[in-house]
Amino acid sequence: IDIMPLGPASVDLGQNVGYGKIILLGEHSVVYGRHAIAAPLSLVIRADVTGPAHTSELTITGWDSDPAAHNPAGAQLAERVAKLIAQRLGVGDLPVHVDVVPELPRASGLGASAALAVAVIRAIVHHFGLSVSDEAISQLAFECEGLVHGTPSGIDNTVATFGRMILFRRSDAGNEIRDISTPVSIPVVVGLTGVRSLTADTVGRVHAGWQKNPQHYEAIFDEIDGLVMTGLDALTRGDLSALGEVMNLNHGLLNALQVSSPELEAVIDLARRSGALGAKLTGGGGGGAMIAIAEPDRIHSVANTLDVAGYQTYLTEIRTNGNGKLAP
Ligand code: MEV
Repeated sequence: IDIMPLGPASVDLGQNVGYGKIILLGEHSVVYGRHAIAAPLSLVIRADVTGPAHTSELTITGWDSDPAAHNPAGAQLAERVAKLIAQRLGVGDLPVHVDVVPELPRASGLGASAALAVAVIRAIVHHFGLSVSDEAISQLAFECEGLVHGTPSGIDNTVATFGRMILFRRSDAGNEIRDISTPVSIPVVVGLTGVRSLTADTVGRVHAGWQKNPQHYEAIFDEIDGLVMTGLDALTRGDLSALGEVMNLNHGLLNALQVSSPELEAVIDLARRSGALGAKLTGGGGGGAMIAIAEPDRIHSVANTLDVAGYQTYLTEIRTNGNGKLAP
């Protein structure tokens, strides 16, 4: 089990990092304008400019070089992201080499692609001494996410940039982004199914289902939105058992949207049987990762059970955002 303190506390914000994230409630329906809650992980992606590039373009190493992460949709992703970032930041004719260190597992729904974009943007911004606001960094990372999966909601790039727990709602008139505080730390186990999954695929699956059955899908999205708001109330009161209950219900509805998988169901069932108050898939689903919460005196036994069963397991906690502000 890897112990992973949550949030930015362990990270020097002067570094070029993008945060990984967990979606606590509301993935997928967030793409359709409903609320979702996400929190940052202290697992990050770091990036540094290591010198001039030998080619005529900005190059990123340490990303596509991982053959296990290779997939058709992700092929040359780093190159496409690099090109877009260099263009937008106006440094296309000053090619540099950016080295990326990913701490986050890829294709696991923990926000690695958004974190990659944010880290690389920050590396370029610092290297060239550019003045770019966090909002603009998040917006450019959103464009990069568009290359990865066509219709991102914007929640991943927001958490990857700001590293804070947020309530998020996508809107053409400007996204609603609210800081969330909780009076207690909430212990969380993150379990990886070991099955790599692309968010682009599951987002596409939900879209196809929605086109066939818009009324039923919209009703499920509304139901999830209600769960997110109930979960927000539970979070702000520090009511773990109420939060666990809405996580379980949210997972059932994600299963209805067909973004769960046998592997996810197995690890979620194991977490619940070993004492979790709530467990659900997190992120795109179809494989990837699940999260579970439990009382502080039970969380180690949940994590241990998953670990012994052979799942890569992280122990972390959701902490309050304190008095900080989301944006300057
Ligand atoms: C992926 O982390 C979350 C999804 O809702 C997609 C998105 O919001 O862009 C599945």
